[in-house]
Amino acid sequence: MPQRNLVLFSTTMVVLLLSSIVLTQAQPRSWSAFQASKELATKLSRNPQTFPHASTDYGHIVHKTPVAIFNPSSVSDILALIHFSNSLPNPFPIAPRGKAHSVHGQAMTKDGVVLNMTNLNSSFQNGLGVLVSACDGKGPLICYADVGGGQMWIDVLHASLERGLTPLSLTDYMYATVGGTLSNAGMGGMSFRFGPQISNVLELDVITGKGDLVTCSKEQNSEAFYAALGGLGQFGVITRARIPLGPAPTRVKWLRLLYNNFTAFSRDQEHLISFSERNDIATADYVEGMLLLNQPPLDLLFYPASDHQRVTSLVTQYGIIYILELAKYYYNNSQAHVNEEVAYLLKGLNFVHTFVFERDVSYEEFVNRVYPLEQMLRSEGLWEVPHPWLNLWVPRSRISDFDEGVFKDIVLKQNITGGSFLVYPTNRRNKWDDRMTPITPDEDVFYVVDFLRVAKTFDVVDKLQVQNKQILRFCNDAGIKITEYLIGNKTHQQWVEHFGPKWKLFADRKTEFDPKKILSPGHGIFQ
Ligand SMILES: Cc1cc2nc3c(=O)[nH]c(=O)nc-3n(C[C@H](O)[C@H](O)[C@H](O)COP(=O)(O)OP(=O)(O)OC[C@H]3O[C@@H](n4cnc5c(N)ncnc54)[C@H](O)[C@@H]3O)c2cc1C
Ligand SMILES: *[C@@H]1O[C@H](CO)[C@@H](O)[C@H](O)[C@H]1NC(C)=O
Ligand SMILES: *[C@@H]1O[C@H](CO)[C@@H](O)[C@H](O)[C@H]1NC(C)=O
Ligand SMILES: *[C@@H]1O[C@H](CO)[C@@H](O)[C@H](O)[C@H]1NC(C)=O
Ligand SMILES: *[C@@H]1O[C@H](CO)[C@@H](O)[C@H](O)[C@H]1NC(C)=O
Ligand SMILES: *[C@@H]1O[C@H](CO)[C@@H](O)[C@H](O)[C@H]1NC(C)=O
Ligand SMILES: *[C@@H]1O[C@H](CO)[C@@H](O)[C@H](O)[C@H]1NC(C)=O
Repeated sequence: MPQRNLVLFSTTMVVLLLSSIVLTQAQPRSWSAFQASKELATKLSRNPQTFPHASTDYGHIVHKTPVAIFNPSSVSDILALIHFSNSLPNPFPIAPRGKAHSVHGQAMTKDGVVLNMTNLNSSFQNGLGVLVSACDGKGPLICYADVGGGQMWIDVLHASLERGLTPLSLTDYMYATVGGTLSNAGMGGMSFRFGPQISNVLELDVITGKGDLVTCSKEQNSEAFYAALGGLGQFGVITRARIPLGPAPTRVKWLRLLYNNFTAFSRDQEHLISFSERNDIATADYVEGMLLLNQPPLDLLFYPASDHQRVTSLVTQYGIIYILELAKYYYNNSQAHVNEEVAYLLKGLNFVHTFVFERDVSYEEFVNRVYPLEQMLRSEGLWEVPHPWLNLWVPRSRISDFDEGVFKDIVLKQNITGGSFLVYPTNRRNKWDDRMTPITPDEDVFYVVDFLRVAKTFDVVDKLQVQNKQILRFCNDAGIKITEYLIGNKTHQQWVEHFGPKWKLFADRKTEFDPKKILSPGHGIFQ
């Protein structure tokens, strides 16, 4: 089998290559330890088919070529890799990689090893797939799924739906991995109600940078648990997460309400998220929002073709339209009630009254709503293009200043086309635990603001990056205390400023769990 020999040959090459790069002051003992570990060597790859993928991400702006890709088939493989790095006088960095939907090189390393978490799916039977448990009927009913860190949320959804269940808090996009979103926060239109995805975890298995496999939760090894949640991959590799599940609705009323007045728009959004825990009827299940700018291409996919003309006219008239997007779930047997519930929700809202649009879709079609868009963009060659995104959390008290200074001034006036813009409030109070790693604006409610930019050419990338900097400078000058989300490619000093008063806790946790600073170098926090 010549192909097999080739593979063996190339892995030997990788081992030699790795040794020459990382073992600059190597002692013979550690090198022979690696050679002795044949298991490790056969899982390292520089397969020319996949290697280029490991040197880029969804952003397509930052590129770093690793020494090799490690394809683990078990948790013990990951343990062995981390132990090996730790054993060297000059340890090599390890970058866990989910689906690399990061946009600033967070899952890359230029002189280390990319740890391919999605390869774990092959050992489904070892508990690294998705295992939906029976619901625990004693005490409060808790259903959950045990999920491998490299699984995608779409797979968690499918396995859960088979049992009539669903995760409670989902992001807009279902093809990111569980380990990837839990290393950031996982925000979406359900977060106002259940919190971000990191607030919806019962238990984790984490392999720390020191090489300890730790099972952790609020009660057990809680320091490792809170550190890993939103931990940017700095403290450990998440190999398993226990995700709580609730009953899955069958169908969804999915609505968009158009506004020409930001004050009315944000006031209505805030009204919808200030729900009462006890009054289900009066509660939306999902609330987001977005801008419709007088810029090509106008995204009119949601609206019936017969309405495209009048939506376009509205946008042309005002230059900027705000869309409040909301959803109300229902089951087949409550079909008769759902229209009443929706009418109740819309009562007193101040959208432009003839501009309300509604679709009735299956639950899966709703939560997987980005997928058809992805297919369309892929077919137009507009998916694997540069994405100079800017993702911000803005304190509620300053969102109107943000609208005036950023949307209506910088964005509208510069009129650089490409991408979409999301803006929606979420509840911090009672939904976030400050022991988790991320920092947030210091208010009970803050806004998620996403500039999901798509650049067809590098000339546009530059323009958009300049605009991103202008937006940050505007916030700084106006004293709007924003928090950046999904950031990377920052200097150490910028990270210290990002965490502010929480920096000491962050750095102490690094010393405790990853003292040799091996994990997730792509953020540039400790390198
Ligand atoms: C189209 C699109 C829509 C999106 N929508 C949303 C949204 O609505 N809400 C939201 O919050 N985010 C959203 N995101 C951002 C997304 O959640 C993050 O980019 C996330 O990191 C993607 O997961 P991934 O598996 O691709 O992670 P990767 O990019 O592979 O990794 C992200 C970081 O986590 C680390 N990491 C990965 N796996 C593990 C692990 N198992 N253990 C420890 N560390 C690990 C990596 O080293 C890296 O630092 C969106 C992204 C895209 C492309
Ligand atoms: C990352 O930093 C480099 C060097 O500072 C810069 O050239 C590049 O544009 C940055 N990329 C992003 C996505 O910010
Ligand atoms: C990671 O592993 C998966 C599954 O084996 C494979 O499809 C993918 O190409 C690998 N990724 C990289 C960057 O090698
Ligand atoms: C993971 O494994 C399961 C079970 O073998 C399979 O159904 C699923 O399609 C796999 N997912 C991926 C992303 O390969
Ligand atoms: C926008 O809405 C707010 C709140 O309903 C209202 O007070 C204000 O007058 C409106 N502005 C315009 C220009 O209509
Ligand atoms: C933005 O530019 C496009 C042309 O690229 C133009 O059609 C549109 O009217 C402009 N919008 C604004 C608000 O200036
Ligand atoms: C709900 O209705 C759909 C379509 O009418 C049907 O396929 C499905 O089986 C029903 N589900 C339940 C739980 O009754």
